[in-house]
Amino acid sequence: MIVGWRGGPFCGLAHATYIVVRNERAKLFGGSNVAAVIEKELLCKDFLTKSKKLLIDGKWVDAESGKTFETYNPATEEVLTRVAEGGKADVDKAVKAARKAFESGPWRKMSNAERAKLMFKLADSIEAHADELAQLETLDNGKPIKESRYVDVAQTIETFRYYGGWATKLEGETINANSDFFTYTLREPIGVVGQIIPWNFPMLMAAWKLGPALACGNTVILKPAEQTPLTALRIGELAMECGFPEGVINIITGFGADSAGSALANHMDVDKIAFTGEDKTGREILKASLGNLKRVSLELGGKAPNIVFADADIDAAVRGAITGIFFNQGQVCCAGSRLFLEKPIHDEFMSKLLERVGKMRQGQGMDEKTHIGPQVSKEQQERVLNYIDIAKKEGAKLECGGMAPEELGKGYFVKPTIFTGVNNDMRIAQEEVFGPVLAVIPFNNIEDVAEQANKTTFGLSGAVWTKDIKKAHRLAGKIKAGTVWVNCYNLLDPAIPFGGYKMSGYGRELGKHSIELYTNIKSVWVNLAE
Ligand code: NAI
Ligand code: MG
Repeated sequence: MIVGWRGGPFCGLAHATYIVVRNERAKLFGGSNVAAVIEKELLCKDFLTKSKKLLIDGKWVDAESGKTFETYNPATEEVLTRVAEGGKADVDKAVKAARKAFESGPWRKMSNAERAKLMFKLADSIEAHADELAQLETLDNGKPIKESRYVDVAQTIETFRYYGGWATKLEGETINANSDFFTYTLREPIGVVGQIIPWNFPMLMAAWKLGPALACGNTVILKPAEQTPLTALRIGELAMECGFPEGVINIITGFGADSAGSALANHMDVDKIAFTGEDKTGREILKASLGNLKRVSLELGGKAPNIVFADADIDAAVRGAITGIFFNQGQVCCAGSRLFLEKPIHDEFMSKLLERVGKMRQGQGMDEKTHIGPQVSKEQQERVLNYIDIAKKEGAKLECGGMAPEELGKGYFVKPTIFTGVNNDMRIAQEEVFGPVLAVIPFNNIEDVAEQANKTTFGLSGAVWTKDIKKAHRLAGKIKAGTVWVNCYNLLDPAIPFGGYKMSGYGRELGKHSIELYTNIKSVWVNLAE
């Protein structure tokens, strides 16, 4: 099943599972100004209250340094809770545990079917805790609760189920090379895998990483982003309850550079690193991998062209443009941050787009009526506001937004922002803003737009809106990117590969391609000669 964010903020996704109530728990969401609070109770309250440690070798332990750090609710700027701050010493311990579990633990002896069963059990457990996890994700990241529930949690469950299925379908092959030899390949797990993930889809990125790694029989050290460590820890708890053997899943919360992240990337006994995040960090990870030439897969940034031809269904394309740039507050690597409009429809499209964007409700993610929440952190809010300044100075025309909404008071919000009159060479059209900022660029014809669309260092995704199937397929073939959507945007499915061309990284996640990332192929020659 495809679980995507199909229609944008106005698609009427929910038959709201959430009952809107006001009660004393509103305080936990930042006080009395909150319009609505979900459901009967705050399901993640117990988890927020207790101490949050590192998961090493099946046990929850404090960091060796004893240090902890704060994680914030970006909608209120208040501290949500504290989390253990893992460092190099903790990474060393986790790698040892993962190595032991890989070489000699029950994990290696388990049948594929048993491994699959554990993964299905984890998926069921996540489903049983769906509302709690959705709340936790929204509080930690800021995203609208409906998106947490219907996108992040739903796709996390799907991903574990999808890869649970793969555990029993791993295959090598026999090859008829020479009749004097019986030759075949074995598909084997790589070993100890380090996974460093970002804050924009904290739980879903954990699932994209853990799912295939576990299905293939690897052991893992997961390093969640420092801004959003909570859902990964809760999934770690659920995994332990499900019975994953000790040392198979280790979770080290902490920071990146000169800390847990770089310790993992540099570690000589880690066989592979999978990373999602900034291209600059990707380069650091790659350099760090040189010591033992560990395998690296990188899923980095994007500056996707979202291309609308004059013959498109304009209303659908308007919704697609909104989904493309404002979903998850624009903090999406495949965000449609460059909107190319064919000249004859430019003005009509813009007036429809602006009207619709004007109706978007911005507010706290816990409010079920919210379409767009805060950016994840003050740092990200400042980065986005800085890019808005840059765009103004470059001469782009501000059509809406362009600032933090004063009426919301606290929280790291940035109003949905659109610039027209953008030239594809401007910084606002070339650099990843990672926020709700759309750059609109007019174009003349398919050749013109193909050239401009590809004039970027990135190549993660793109989209084409047209009723002409020849044009759609021709342009889909020309766009240098790992994903092209035709008359839709931001659809993802665990079965469909995702990844980048050019500086958007390499390696494909999801589908059978993730299996390639987490296995080695061994060729075996058996001499049959008389
Ligand atoms: P980042 O790439 O620095 O952080 C992502 C993860 O990498 C975090 O877990 C972090 O702790 C870790 N990390 C950071 N430096 C590291 C190092 N030297 N060695 C090992 N691990 C390290 O991203 P950041 O700084 O949070 O965001 C900056 C920009 O990156 C964003 O504005 C956005 O443009 C881009 N980004 C792209 C994402 C994507 O999905 N492609 C996700 C998050 C950020
Ligand atoms: Mg960084």
